[in-house]
Amino acid sequence: MRPSTVTGAVLATAVLLLVAVRDGHCAQLCMDSSFPRTINGSLSFCGYNGTSCCNATDDAAVQKQFAAMNISGTPCGDIVKNILCARCNPYAGELFTVTTTSRTVPLLCSTTGVSSRLSTKPAAATTDYCSQVWDTCKDVRIPGSPFQAPKGGAAAPKLTDLWQSAGEFCSALGGGGAAKSPCLDGGGAAFNATRPALPLNGMCLERIGNGSYLNMAAHPDGSNRVFLSNQAGKVFLATVPAQGSGKTLGIDVASPFLDITDEVHFDNEFGLMGLAFHPGFATNGRFFVSYNCDKTQSASCAGRCACNSDFGCDPAKLGADNGAQPCQYQSVIAEYTANATSGTPAKATSANPVEVRRIMTLGLPFTTHHGGQILFSPADGYMYFAMGDGGSVGDPWNFAQNKKTLLGKILRIDVNTMPSGNTTAGWGSYSIPKDNPSSTDSSFAPEVFAIGFKNPWRCSFDSGKPSYMYCADVGQAAYEEVDLITKGGNYGWRVFEGPLPYTPLSTPGGNTSAASINAISPVMGYHHNAVNNNVGSASIIGGYVYRSTVDPCLNGRYLYADLYAKSMWAGAESPEGSGVYNVTDLKFSCSKSSPIPCDVAAGSALPSLGYIFSFGEDNARDVYLLTSKGVYRVVDPAQCGYACPVKSSTPGASSSPSPGAAPSSAVRARAPAALAALMAGALLALLSLMSV
Ligand SMILES: *[C@@H]1O[C@H](CO)[C@@H](O)[C@H](O)[C@H]1NC(C)=O
Ligand SMILES: *[C@@H]1O[C@H](CO)[C@@H](O)[C@H](O)[C@H]1NC(C)=O
Ligand SMILES: *[C@@H]1O[C@H](CO)[C@@H](O)[C@H](O)[C@H]1NC(C)=O
Ligand SMILES: *[C@@H]1O[C@H](CO)[C@@H](O)[C@H](O)[C@H]1NC(C)=O
Ligand SMILES: *[C@@H]1O[C@H](CO)[C@@H](O)[C@H](O)[C@H]1NC(C)=O
Ligand SMILES: *[C@@H]1O[C@H](CO)[C@@H](O)[C@H](O)[C@H]1NC(C)=O
Ligand SMILES: *[C@@H]1O[C@H](CO)[C@@H](O)[C@H](O)[C@H]1NC(C)=O
Ligand SMILES: *[C@@H]1O[C@H](CO)[C@@H](O)[C@H](O)[C@H]1NC(C)=O
Ligand SMILES: *[C@@H]1O[C@H](CO)[C@@H](O)[C@H](O)[C@H]1NC(C)=O
Ligand SMILES: *[C@@H]1O[C@H](CO)[C@@H](O)[C@H](O)[C@H]1NC(C)=O
Repeated sequence: MRPSTVTGAVLATAVLLLVAVRDGHCAQLCMDSSFPRTINGSLSFCGYNGTSCCNATDDAAVQKQFAAMNISGTPCGDIVKNILCARCNPYAGELFTVTTTSRTVPLLCSTTGVSSRLSTKPAAATTDYCSQVWDTCKDVRIPGSPFQAPKGGAAAPKLTDLWQSAGEFCSALGGGGAAKSPCLDGGGAAFNATRPALPLNGMCLERIGNGSYLNMAAHPDGSNRVFLSNQAGKVFLATVPAQGSGKTLGIDVASPFLDITDEVHFDNEFGLMGLAFHPGFATNGRFFVSYNCDKTQSASCAGRCACNSDFGCDPAKLGADNGAQPCQYQSVIAEYTANATSGTPAKATSANPVEVRRIMTLGLPFTTHHGGQILFSPADGYMYFAMGDGGSVGDPWNFAQNKKTLLGKILRIDVNTMPSGNTTAGWGSYSIPKDNPSSTDSSFAPEVFAIGFKNPWRCSFDSGKPSYMYCADVGQAAYEEVDLITKGGNYGWRVFEGPLPYTPLSTPGGNTSAASINAISPVMGYHHNAVNNNVGSASIIGGYVYRSTVDPCLNGRYLYADLYAKSMWAGAESPEGSGVYNVTDLKFSCSKSSPIPCDVAAGSALPSLGYIFSFGEDNARDVYLLTSKGVYRVVDPAQCGYACPVKSSTPGASSSPSPGAAPSSAVRARAPAALAALMAGALLALLSLMSV
C-alpha cells in the first residue's frame, strides 16, 4: 500500500499544467460494441460518409438484401432501404439494442408508441415515423421482410399479417421521444437533445444488511432474490425486501449457497473476486466464480504464468514481490452448478460443492491489480472478465499495452461452446467469440476484447442500453477513470493515467509511445486532489446506470463512488448522443426509516457508510452499495427530504414471488463471530484497492 498523498496531488497538478489532455471520444457505438469506422468517401448504397458502422463490404451486403426484396423505387421501398441502412448509422448500437431482446429493425420514432415511464405526458418524438412506415408499407408484400416482433418469431411478409393497426405496430416497434432512447426518424438517429434533465438533489439510502460483500448478482429467474458473495469465499442466496417495507435482507449467513473458502486464497487483494450466473441458470443451473488461489497450498491451483516466453517475458526476471514467487498466486474462473436434488435449479437453495469445470487459470506476476470481476453481457451473452495489469507500481512490464497478454484487459470468452481439451494458449476451457478483435487483427490474444487497464474495479452493462458497458479503472496517483468499453479499444494505461500522460518509474518491459496508440479517453472520472477525504488517496468504485423508477431524478445517470465514501458522483450523457457526460457531485444521506440505522460520522453531516467496495443491481433495477458496514439500497429521495419533481414509483419486477424456499427475512445475520470475520475481510479488501 502506498498512499503517496502529497506527491500524487503535486504531480497531478504539474502534469495538468504541462500537457494538454487527450481528445474526448463520442459515445457512438455500433451493434457489436465497436466504434464506428472512419470511411473513405461515402457508402455507395447507404450513403453514409464520415463515420459509419458499415464498410463498403457491409454496404454491398445491404444493397443485395434490399435488391432481393424487389420493392426498389416504390414509396415503401424507400422506407425499407432507410431501415436496412440504419445498421450503418453511427448510433446503431443505440437504435437496435434499446432492450435485451434482439431487434431486426431499429426503434422507429413514434408518438403513438409507449409513452415515457418518467413523464405524465405522452412521449414526444421528432416525427411519427412509425405511423408513416405503417401507412406506406402495411399492404406491401416484402420477400425477406425485416419486420418482426422484437421478441423473435416469424417475419411478416406483409405488416398486416402480424399487426392489425398502426397502434399495434408502433407499440411493438415504435418508441423514442422524450426521456426515451434515440429512434430512427426517417433520416438518421433522432435524439431529444433538449430533454431537460430532472434536477438531482441527492441520493437517499437505506441499510438493509450489515454483512460485508464484494459481489451482488440478481437471480436470473427474475425474482426478488440476489446472490451475494464475500471475499473469503462464501456465496449466499438472499431475499430482497420490497421497497418501503421496512424489512431487511433475508439472508442466513449460517447456510451459504456455496462455500469454497478452502480453495480461495484470502488476503489483501486476494479472494473470491467475481460471481456470475449464466443467463439460463434457472433451467441449466450453471454459475461461475472468479477467485484467487495459491499454488503452494492447493493442487488444483495450477496454470500458466501470465509472464511467459510467448512474448519474451521471463518469470525469473520479474523480481521479488512481497516475498511471493512469480505466479505463486493465480486467478481462476471455475464453473459450479446448483444443487437441484429437490427440483429445478431455480428452486435450489444450495450449490453442488463439486467444481464442474475449470474455465480459466492465469498465473499472476505480482500480488496486486488483478480485478477479477466476471459478468455476462445481456446483449451478446458472452462472459466478460475484467483483469488488471497484474501489479507492481506503474506496470513495469508494460502488460496492459501488450495485446498478447491477458493482463490489463477486458477479456471476452464463450462458455456456451466448450472445446474438447485446451483452447488457444492453454489458459483453460472455453471458446473464442468469432468476432473478438483477434478475428480482424491477429496481434491480439484471442480472449482480448479491450486493452489498457490498470485495475478495472467494477464494470456493468447499462440495462437500458445493453451494448453499453462501463468500467471504472483504479488510477495510480492522480486520476480515477470511468471508461465506455468498445471492442478493440485501447484505454491508455500506462501511457496515460486517465486523461494525463503517465511516466513509469521503471521500464524493464519496454515502453509504448503515446503517438503509436489511439488511446480512448475516459468518459467520467475524478482527480485525486478533488477528493477531500483526509487520507489523500483515492480509489474509484464503478457502479451502474440507474434505471429504477424509485428515484426518478437518478434515472439514466451512471453512479460511481470513491472507496472512502466521502464522495459520490452521477454522470449523464448530455446532450444525448454527444459522448459528453455531465458529472455532478452526488449528495447522499440515510433514510430516517432505514431498517438498520446507519452510523453517524462524528463531526460530519454524512452518514458513515463504511468503505464502499462495490455496487449491485437487482431484478427491479434497484441499485445497492456494498460496503464494509453492510448493504445499502437507493430509496425514494423524499425519505431523505430530497426534492424530485417526479414521484417515486415501484414497478412490479421485484415483487414477483420467489419460486424457491428462500430464507425468510426473519432469518437474519445472526452469528456475531461470522460477522466479525466478514468485517476483517472487508478491511483487507480495502487495503488492496488502495495499493498502487
Ligand atoms: C480513399 O479513396 C481514394 C480513391 O478511391 C484513394 O485514392 C485513397 O487512397 C483512399 N484513402 C484511404 C485512406 O484509403
Ligand atoms: C457528407 O455528406 C454531407 C451531406 O451529404 C456533406 O455536407 C459533407 O460534406 C460530407 N462529408 C464528407 C466527409 O464527405
Ligand atoms: C468490413 O467489415 C466487416 C465487419 O463488419 C469485416 O468482416 C470485413 O472484413 C470488412 N471488410 C473490409 C474490406 O474491411
Ligand atoms: C418484382 O416485382 C415486379 C412487379 O412489382 C414483378 O413483375 C416481378 O416479377 C418481380 N420480380 C421478382 C424476381 O419477384
Ligand atoms: C424533447 O423533450 C421535451 C420534453 O419532454 C419535449 O417537450 C420536446 O417536444 C421534445 N423534443 C423533440 C424534438 O422530441
Ligand atoms: C445486524 O443486523 C441485525 C438486524 O438485521 C441485528 O440484529 C444485528 O445485531 C446486526 N449485527 C451487527 C454486528 O450490527
Ligand atoms: C442438495 O439438496 C438435497 C435435497 O434438498 C439435500 O438433501 C442435500 O444435502 C443438498 N446437497 C448439498 C451439498 O447442499
Ligand atoms: C493444457 O495446456 C497446459 C499448458 O499448456 C498443459 O499443461 C496441459 O497438459 C494441457 N491440457 C490438455 C488436456 O491438453
Ligand atoms: C521508457 O521511457 C522512459 C521515459 O519516459 C525512459 O526513462 C526509459 O528509459 C524508457 N525505457 C525503455 C526500455 O526504453
Ligand atoms: C449538467 O448538470 C447540471 C446539474 O444537474 C445542470 O444544471 C446542467 O444544466 C447540466 N448541463 C448540461 C450541459 O446538461
